[in-house]
Amino acid sequence: MILKDKIADLHRQVEEMKAANAEEVEALRIKFLSKKGAITELFNEFREVPKEEKKELGQALNQLRQAAEVRINEMREKASAAGMELADKQDLTRTPDTIELGTRHPLSLVREEIVDIFSRIGFTVAEGPEVEDDKHVYGLLNFPPEHPARDMQDTFFIEKEVGVQKPTDVLLRSHTSSVQTRVMTSQKPPIRVLCPGRVYRNEAISARAHCFFHQVEGLYVDKNVSFADLREVLLYFAKEMFGQDTKIRLRPSYFPFTEPSAEMDISCGLCGGKGCSFCKGTGWVEILGCGMVDPNVLEACGIDSKVYSGYAFGMGVERITNLKYRVKDLRLFSENDVRFLRQFESC
Ligand code: PHE
Repeated sequence: MILKDKIADLHRQVEEMKAANAEEVEALRIKFLSKKGAITELFNEFREVPKEEKKELGQALNQLRQAAEVRINEMREKASAAGMELADKQDLTRTPDTIELGTRHPLSLVREEIVDIFSRIGFTVAEGPEVEDDKHVYGLLNFPPEHPARDMQDTFFIEKEVGVQKPTDVLLRSHTSSVQTRVMTSQKPPIRVLCPGRVYRNEAISARAHCFFHQVEGLYVDKNVSFADLREVLLYFAKEMFGQDTKIRLRPSYFPFTEPSAEMDISCGLCGGKGCSFCKGTGWVEILGCGMVDPNVLEACGIDSKVYSGYAFGMGVERITNLKYRVKDLRLFSENDVRFLRQFESC
């Protein structure tokens, strides 16, 4: 194409230019008028044209450049006016939308309260895996090999190979006592830990049972730890958690890993111990299991039972939450119904 036609062609393009905003205007300016722009290129070509054509083509080129500059300036003004209008439409004084905050889950609130009460008397939190081995959940805790808790009915075992139900010692922990064995096998006494966490048991889901729930267990191992120490600590806990008038009662019980073992009741908070439908007329409600750590457990974990003794206790967070907030159906805790969860907003 000769220069004359190229000029005519660019003229047409300049007349047809369109831009929606300031950025597009700038892109057009670069395309036509920058150092490497199409019009500037034509000025380079102009140097080569024969003398006799210079006058006519020079004028045409100058007109083209002027036309492009005028168009681009016009478009630039229009775009910036539109931008201002947009900014005018925005109300910069408007209060921002409120951010909806979630609420703490009741189980988290109660777990934290339990941990806080015990941390005031020197307990620190220890954590361990939810997928455990038989040794830490049962073996070190004096469970005989044929103990029913190990049975498929209670424990979720994990297949090592998909679809292959070989005997396996990998399982979901059924209590957080597994964290206690991990602490005892890795630390030297004095030991004073709390083990909060989720546990799993193979139970049919109903209002009163679930296949997973939450525990806080405690362990204290030192020289000269006695059952009286355990009782005092549990009385302190019950009063802090349920009110200073709360009474406790320890009933003999059995756990493979404690000797002697006990279950602790607190005086019924609803009737004050007189007897009502909640406490089934007894005036007491059960809240936890406890006892002195069996010397066999200490020895299995490498702690000299002639020098050290200890106590342990374990409670269900759901159970404590039920007592505090009268939640009647365990399933509510895992359904995530906001109508239930919002009730704990101010707790
Ligand atoms: N591990 C017991 C349970 O899961 C609770 C417990 C802990 C009992 C410590 C006594 C001592 O039921």
